[in-house]
Amino acid sequence: MAQKLWDKGISVNEEVERFTVGRDQEMDIFLAPYDVLGSMAHITMLESIGLLSADELKLLLEELRSIYALTRSGWFQIEEGVEDVHSQVELMLTRRLGDVGKKIHSGRSRNDQVLVDLKLFTRTKIRETVENVVALFDILIAQSERYKEVLLPGYTHLQVAMPSSFGLWFGAYAESLTDDLQVLLAAYKITNRNPLGSAAGYGSSFPLNRQMTTDLLGFDSMDYNVVYAQMGRGKMERVVSSALASIAATLSKLAFDACMFTSQNFGFIKLAPQYTTGSSIMPHKKNPDVFELTRSKCNKLQAIPQQITMITNNLPSGYYRDLQIIKEVFIPMFDELNDCLKMVARMMSEVKINTQIMSDNRYDPIFSVEKVNELVLEGVPFRDAYKQVGQAIEAGNFIPNKNICHTHEGSIGNLCNDKIVALTQSIVAEFNFKKVQNAENELLLTTTQSE
Ligand code: ARG
Repeated sequence: MAQKLWDKGISVNEEVERFTVGRDQEMDIFLAPYDVLGSMAHITMLESIGLLSADELKLLLEELRSIYALTRSGWFQIEEGVEDVHSQVELMLTRRLGDVGKKIHSGRSRNDQVLVDLKLFTRTKIRETVENVVALFDILIAQSERYKEVLLPGYTHLQVAMPSSFGLWFGAYAESLTDDLQVLLAAYKITNRNPLGSAAGYGSSFPLNRQMTTDLLGFDSMDYNVVYAQMGRGKMERVVSSALASIAATLSKLAFDACMFTSQNFGFIKLAPQYTTGSSIMPHKKNPDVFELTRSKCNKLQAIPQQITMITNNLPSGYYRDLQIIKEVFIPMFDELNDCLKMVARMMSEVKINTQIMSDNRYDPIFSVEKVNELVLEGVPFRDAYKQVGQAIEAGNFIPNKNICHTHEGSIGNLCNDKIVALTQSIVAEFNFKKVQNAENELLLTTTQSE
């Protein structure tokens, strides 16, 4: 059995060890680069308050920088018998530097260490998610503009209702992503606050300079109250996963529309054959499996905030090992959602549109309200006009006028895509990812200079 950070000479039962370590060795790999960054900031601060010498800091930063490179190369491993990433990094430092390596944990606990790791990991993953959302958003807006003249029946109760358009259809999902980004921005603001220095959850008697680690790591502010900082474990994940669930909900609805619209009974859109899958028995099949899997994955993702709520709900304030389980629910969520975002972007950019849907007279009744409104403009009271058109439809002699004219904001003839784009750009600008990137780069650079 390898050494433990908390080893006091009593060995733990092997089964208990397996049970308590759980999936940490697998999950913590995702946190490794951030664990190193957090340590770099922490020890830089320790030196500034006299708990490390300048020479010790230099040695440690140098070594941490090479561990950081290892985490980025994909070769970093948590060894057999080592509990978690925090233990692994400290073990590597101690192996290389001896007693100096043992000094880095002053004024810190794995409780605030894992908190800061999760925050740094999450803000990076949010950035990747925003980039993928924006890429899909751009495609949807472009398609909306490209096909704004092409009409499509709109449905209520799955019954044909009123004229819609591909301009509206694509644009609706773009604007849905705009609001999803708004929610994600709020989640990001909660994420980008520094919990480091809260230690086990009650602070430290060392005069820690928390503002310094906040600045070094590019956080907007710190989670000030040390008890609250620990209460943020699970809360941040719940809030962020809710924002991701909001994106997932947009994608699953779009996926359902797409599956339905490719059905021969609708025939509104076609997927390129290489984006469909076949059947083992029916030679004619071209199935929209990508959208079906997007729908199920995105529906599954929407249960994650609920799972996190259930894991954390009945805990009092303070740290509990229960919180460890959140990682295996939360961490994989980003890659799964981003995979769906990229897939949907690809499908949406190459989807083929049926431009002649309205030449099929089964859709004639959707122009009924246009006719009613025409009569109203001629002075017929609305209820009388409604009756007149209704009777014509029943009698089978309704002649639709398909040259519709919708001019108000957000309607077929006035999509306001420029407004939707401007709103989205203003939200994306607020994330201010540059500031975070600069701070992380500088922290890594400091080590190079100190060599
Ligand atoms: N693996 C642990 C977690 O994710 C790390 C923190 C351990 N802290 C403790 N007090 N046992 O929560």
